[in-house]
Amino acid sequence: MNTMMRSAVSVGAPANLGFPRGAARTSIGEDAAVRLEVRNVYKVFSPDPKPALTMLRQGASKAEVLEKLNVNVGVLDASFQVRAGEIFVIMGLSGSGKSTMIRLLNRLIEPSSGEILLDGKDLVSMSKAELIQARRRNMGMVFQSFALMPHLSALDNAAFGLEISGASKAERHKAAQQALEQVGLGTYSHRYPREMSGGMQQRVGLARALANDPTILLMDEAFSALDPLIRTEMQDELLRLQREHQRTIVFISHDLDEAMRIGDRIAIMEGGRIVQVGTPYEILSRPADDYVRSFFRNVDASKVLRAGDVARYEATNTVIRMPGELAPALQQLRENHHNFGYVRTQDGRFEGVVSQATLDRELRGPQPRFVNAFLPDVRTVNAATPIHALLALVADTEWPVPVVDDDGNFLGAISRALMLHTLVRGD
Ligand SMILES: Nc1ncnc2c1ncn2[C@@H]1O[C@H](COP(=O)(O)OP(=O)(O)O)[C@@H](O)[C@H]1O
Ligand SMILES: [Mg+2]
Repeated sequence: MNTMMRSAVSVGAPANLGFPRGAARTSIGEDAAVRLEVRNVYKVFSPDPKPALTMLRQGASKAEVLEKLNVNVGVLDASFQVRAGEIFVIMGLSGSGKSTMIRLLNRLIEPSSGEILLDGKDLVSMSKAELIQARRRNMGMVFQSFALMPHLSALDNAAFGLEISGASKAERHKAAQQALEQVGLGTYSHRYPREMSGGMQQRVGLARALANDPTILLMDEAFSALDPLIRTEMQDELLRLQREHQRTIVFISHDLDEAMRIGDRIAIMEGGRIVQVGTPYEILSRPADDYVRSFFRNVDASKVLRAGDVARYEATNTVIRMPGELAPALQQLRENHHNFGYVRTQDGRFEGVVSQATLDRELRGPQPRFVNAFLPDVRTVNAATPIHALLALVADTEWPVPVVDDDGNFLGAISRALMLHTLVRGD
C-alpha cells in the first residue's frame, strides 16, 4: 500500500526550485541545548565598580555614569542565551559594547557583576586552571586584525595556539594542516603572510581558531576588514563549515547584511545594553525601538528574508498526515476554512497538496483513493530561497507555496497574503 501511494504521489512529484543551499541558515530549534548563558552581566571599567553599578541599577545610562563618575561602562545588565549549533550575531554601532561582550564570554575580561554559564557551569567562579581547561577545550577566537606572525608560515601560524596544549610538534602540525584544509588552504601551508592576500590571511586566522577543534567559536568582526567580495566568500565558507561541524558561533558584526545573512539569531546592542534578541524575521517584523528600526530602515526584506523565515505552519495551513483518508481530510479542510491541505508523512516529510475540490471529486468517483486527490505540478521551495526569488511563483500559484528544508521536511507554506504582509511590514 505504501509503495502504491509513493508511486502515485510521484505523478505530481514536487519539483524543488533549484536554489543553492550554500546560503542556507541552519534552523536551530528553541529546544536546542543552551551552551552559553549570560545573566545580568555588567562590565564597568574601573578599579572600583561599585558606585557605577549602583547608579546603573537605579536606571542611570552609560552616558550619565561617564559624566558623573568619569567611568566607562562596557556592558550593562546583559542577559541572553546562545544555543548549541547556532550562529548568534551581536550587532550594534561602534562603542555599543560588542567587543566587551564577546571578551566577557571567554573571560578575557572579568565581569563586574553577573554570571556567565558555559554548559550550565559558571565561568566566573571557575579557578584559573579550570578556566584554561574550559577555554582550551571549547573556545576558539577570531579577531578582525589577522594577528598573524609575519615570520611564521601559514602552518606555523595555524599551529600557534596549540603550543600551550602540550601536544607534540608533529601532532600540532597535523591539527594545523587539517584546519588549513578546512578553510581551503591545504596547499598553502608553507606560505608566509606577506605572500597571501587579506582573505587568505583571514582564513589562516580562522584555521588557527579551528586547529584545536573548538565547540564554540567567538568571532569579533572577523570579516570586517575584507573587501565585499572576499567577505561574502568567507561568509559562505563559514556557513559551509557550520553545516559540517555545527559549532556554536558568536559572531560580532556592525554590518546588517552580514548579520542577516549568517545569523540564526541576532542580538542588538546599544549603549552597553542588549536591546533586542531574535531571528532576523522577528527583528525585521517587530523592531523593539527606534534604534533597532533605524538599523533596518534600508533593508530590503525581500532580499534578506528567506522562505524558511516566512513560511507558516498550522495556523494558516491545514496539515494532513499520511496515510490520509478522503472524507476526514475533506472535513478537516472545511472546518479550517482552507481550500488546500498540506500532506506530510508521519516523520514530517512533505508529500503533496490536496484541495477540497480534488478530495470531493475522488469521493464521488468510482474508485475513491486518497493519493489520486494530490494536485499535479506542485512545486516546493527550499527554506534557503530568498523571498525576492519567490515573488513570481507565489503570485502565479493558486495555493500557498510549500516550503521544505534540505531533508524534505515540510516547514509551512507561503500564501500571497503572507508574502504581501511580509513585504510591507510596519511601513
Ligand atoms: N579597556 C577599556 N577601558 C575603558 N573603557 C573601555 C575599555 N574597553 C572598552 N571600553 C569602552 O567600552 C565601550 C564599549 O566598547 P567596545 O566593547 O569596544 O564596543 P564595540 O566593540 O561595540 O565597538 C566603549 O565606550 C569603550 O570606550
Ligand atoms: Mg569592537
